[in-house]
Order: sequence, then C-alpha cells, then structure tokens
Amino acid sequence: MKTKILFVCLGNICRSPAAEAIFLHQINTLGLSEKYFVDSAGTGGWHVGKKADSRMRSAAKRRGILIESLARQITSEDLHAFDLILTMDSENFAVLEELSNQECSKSNATIKPMLSFSSQTNSLDVPDPYYGGAKGFENVLDLLEDACKGLIDALN
Ligand code: 4NP
Repeated sequence: MKTKILFVCLGNICRSPAAEAIFLHQINTLGLSEKYFVDSAGTGGWHVGKKADSRMRSAAKRRGILIESLARQITSEDLHAFDLILTMDSENFAVLEELSNQECSKSNATIKPMLSFSSQTNSLDVPDPYYGGAKGFENVLDLLEDACKGLIDALN
C-alpha cells in the first residue's frame, strides 16, 4: 500500500505546493514514485481553486520543478486519509494538532513539522514568502529541497 503524505501551509499557494512538487520530483528521480500518494492543502481557504503563486511557480521551474497543484483547504477527513501530515510552520502545526485532538479516536495521521527533516536549520518554520521579495522564494525552495531529501531518507 502507498504511504499517503500531505504537505500543509497557510494558503496552499506557496510553501506546501512547493514541498509537494519537490517531493514528487525527488521520488521520480529515485524511481520511488509508486510508493507514495502525495497532496497538499492550506489551513486557510482564501485561495481555494487557484494555481500556486506565479512567483513560486517561476522560481521552482528554474530548478526544473513543475508546481501543478490547485489550492484546497484541509478537512478533518484528511486526518483519516493520510498517514503523514507535514506542516510548514508552528502555526500550521498548532492548527493541525487542534484538528487532530477534535478527531482523536479516529485519526490515523502522524503530524510533524517539515523542517524536523532539515539538515540545514534548527528552526521549525519555513518562512512565509508571500509578502516578501524574490529571495524569500529561493530560501523556501532551498529549505524544502533539503528537508525533502531528509524525509525520503527517513522513509526508505
Ligand atoms: P503559503 O503562503 O501559506 O505558503 O501558501 C501564503 C499565501 C497567501 C497568504 C498567506 C500565506 N494570504 O494571506 O493570502
């Protein structure tokens, strides 16, 4: 059976779609695609149905990574459907913990900060790049490329 992994941020248009696309790119390269079902979601619903932020899509494309997902908001069903939920910052983590407490007896998912798999930083927050400049998007991609490698090492 496939391991089901959900990446979560606030808007689901910058960090979590990038994490999803980077993870997909890395497992493809390693021939591990068949082992995983991957998705992303936001704790907020403002951007539901939209493509990822064009600045994030462009920055990822320059690294050979295509971000193709459309934004959606997390639901309590996600806690049953996914094995592993990876949050981009402590705020997302707190929201997921709260949701998980409400669903406690039925929830299957393990919830972890994405950066707990980082080899580059002790911070558990991928900085939100939405209101910043181009460097913020490159920083998010650097952090997530490294954390995805750590995650794949931990899972295989
Ligand atoms: P994300 O970034 O959580 O990485 O998708 C954000 C995108 C949009 C907003 C906040 C964060 N917003 O406030 O609309």
